[in-house]
Amino acid sequence: MANISLLLFVLALSLSAVLATDPSTLQDFCVANPIGQGNSICKDSKVVEANDFLFSGLHIAGNTTNSVGSKVTPVFASQLPGLNTLGISMARIDIAPWGVNPPHTHPRATEIFTVLEGTLEVGFITSNPENRHFRKVLQKGDVFVFPIGLIHYQRNIGYNNVVAIAALSSQNPGAITIGNAVFGATPEISSEILTKAFRLDKTIINYLQSIF
Ligand SMILES: *[C@@H]1O[C@H](CO)[C@@H](O)[C@H](O)[C@H]1NC(C)=O
Repeated sequence: MANISLLLFVLALSLSAVLATDPSTLQDFCVANPIGQGNSICKDSKVVEANDFLFSGLHIAGNTTNSVGSKVTPVFASQLPGLNTLGISMARIDIAPWGVNPPHTHPRATEIFTVLEGTLEVGFITSNPENRHFRKVLQKGDVFVFPIGLIHYQRNIGYNNVVAIAALSSQNPGAITIGNAVFGATPEISSEILTKAFRLDKTIINYLQSIF
């Protein structure tokens, strides 16, 4: 009897470890079908070609002329159909001097972040109630990890552009930018809720809602 409970315990442990990642694949690959063409989940493997596993263009700098001074160029399954079902993805991040990649989370992925150019401040915050803030200044060649689901940010603190590559542990990591989600929801979250939640004046909440 004791042996059976032990077995069940080990089984439960291994099961939870498996459920903590994207599901494992059932075939070599499953290239995503372009929307509206065919009704199978995977593109017919006989017509799959090398280009289905290729994305070109990550050498091109993102346009950082915007209100935050940064640009994320994603390479997810929608940009690279061959990534479908493989459980990983990538992005290029460009940040102009003093620009920020605003606080956001990836609900489905851990992010491992490699600095190719520049100097930046990065950080992430743990869940309630501690809300511990881990922060670090990164230089070219540094690699930093943002654990799955946690709010994180980046800010260029140098005089040159920051270029970084992020690898993510999901083909579809998702991104929730805190300001946009809270103040820019459609339809909007009632300002009575936000006034109380953020302990701010209604005029400030209305202003924040207008800019997001
Ligand atoms: C970058 O974006 C800005 C603002 O949208 C635009 O005015 C500018 O032409 C863009 N630059 C390039 C090189 O595309």
